[in-house]
Amino acid sequence: MVDHDVKDLDLAAAGRLRIEWAEQSMPVLRQVRERFAKDKPLQGIRLGACLHVTTETAVLMLTLKAGGGQVALCASNPLSTQDETAAALVKEYDIPVFARKGEDHPTYYRHLAAVLGTRPQLTMDDGADLISQLHGESGRRQVGEVIGGTEETTTGVIRLRAMEKEGVLAFPVIAVNDADTKHLFDNRYGTGQSTIDGILRATNILLAGRTVVVAGYGMCGRGVAARAKGMGAHVVVTEVEPLRALEAVMEGYQVMPMLKAAEVGDVFVTVTGNTSVIGKEHFARMKDGAILANSGHFNVEIDLAMLATLAQHRREVRPLVEEHTLSGGRRLYVLGEGRLINLVAAEGHPASVMDMSFANQALAAEFMVKRGRTLERKVYVVPREIDHEIARLKLASMNVEIDDLTAQQESYLASWRHGT
Ligand code: NAI
Repeated sequence: MVDHDVKDLDLAAAGRLRIEWAEQSMPVLRQVRERFAKDKPLQGIRLGACLHVTTETAVLMLTLKAGGGQVALCASNPLSTQDETAAALVKEYDIPVFARKGEDHPTYYRHLAAVLGTRPQLTMDDGADLISQLHGESGRRQVGEVIGGTEETTTGVIRLRAMEKEGVLAFPVIAVNDADTKHLFDNRYGTGQSTIDGILRATNILLAGRTVVVAGYGMCGRGVAARAKGMGAHVVVTEVEPLRALEAVMEGYQVMPMLKAAEVGDVFVTVTGNTSVIGKEHFARMKDGAILANSGHFNVEIDLAMLATLAQHRREVRPLVEEHTLSGGRRLYVLGEGRLINLVAAEGHPASVMDMSFANQALAAEFMVKRGRTLERKVYVVPREIDHEIARLKLASMNVEIDDLTAQQESYLASWRHGT
């Protein structure tokens, strides 16, 4: 048996069924896998991945393995692991996995260290934890072996750009998040639907008629706001960026500062990638029964430490729902310990949207093996050809046809000599 630390290998059969279910909705990644199985573009390459251990990630791992890669996987969040998926990857597919749902802080970092112990030449991150470990004291000795990395999410890309700016990034990284076939779909439709799914699974509340406050009108926030509106909620948006705020106004949402929104909201969802977006002054104004959830990458968007000090009494009233009773008797409910609610209480993004995100990951890994040694120590975008190819394959899998430019149209668009 390959090296591993998972909860229960007896869950493997159930995990395999779930992985097969996801695979059915991932036609683009399936095609990439078929080609990888023939061409072996990752032959002999050691690849360390730190991603949410979900069924979709499993399909990506199988694709990388089919391409000849030697893959090891740990979790990018202590609560998002699907234990049956982790078990299946180890027992049914011989992929080393180090992840247990609910693992504590030291275990989380021990699992990162286990993946780094496989001496990866390619890294694949969701939030840049693997890369940041590699750039720390313990990782320094092996950082020279790394050809390059890929990064899945907005927060990770922000961290990596900060590293590049400080001149400390030791190898090139591809910002998979910034591909159009990733953030326009995964962040918007994936996070939109699955965040609502997570809130509903945790609470079973009716959204119709409630006021849902969405903090951050970026790619994820647009999705969450649209889906909440579609379920009949009144949606309030909070922003710090004027263009995004304006777009939210024109889309028909109420836009106001969080201090005001705190007074009217029934459900709060943070998706900013920022810290302390909801804090003491907001808790003080919230209604009795307000529900607080986060779908941004880290559990820092709601100031939970402050809420804990304000609470006179805390108890779990349902799985993943913690009641905080404040002085005067008001109760605030925090979902999933303030961690990504779509992955903690639901199953993360549906497979058909991860199909595109993970096709980008697989093709970015192939690109890195081919070209990484010629790149600088910078954050790169996914090559446009890869983005277009993924969109083309996805459309084909949906039986959607589009028009081609005629020769006349191409020359028209390429010329400035036309006028009225
Ligand atoms: P984005 O950069 O497109 O949007 C973030 C928005 O938040 C921006 O418009 C920004 O102006 C706004 N913002 C920043 N500070 C704010 C504050 N204090 N109050 C109100 N608004 C504020 O980023 P994107 O792609 O929407 O990602 C947001 C977060 O969600 C990131 O942490 C990202 O990693 C994470 N993410 C989570 C996923 C999930 O499965 N739950 C999937 C994809 C991304």
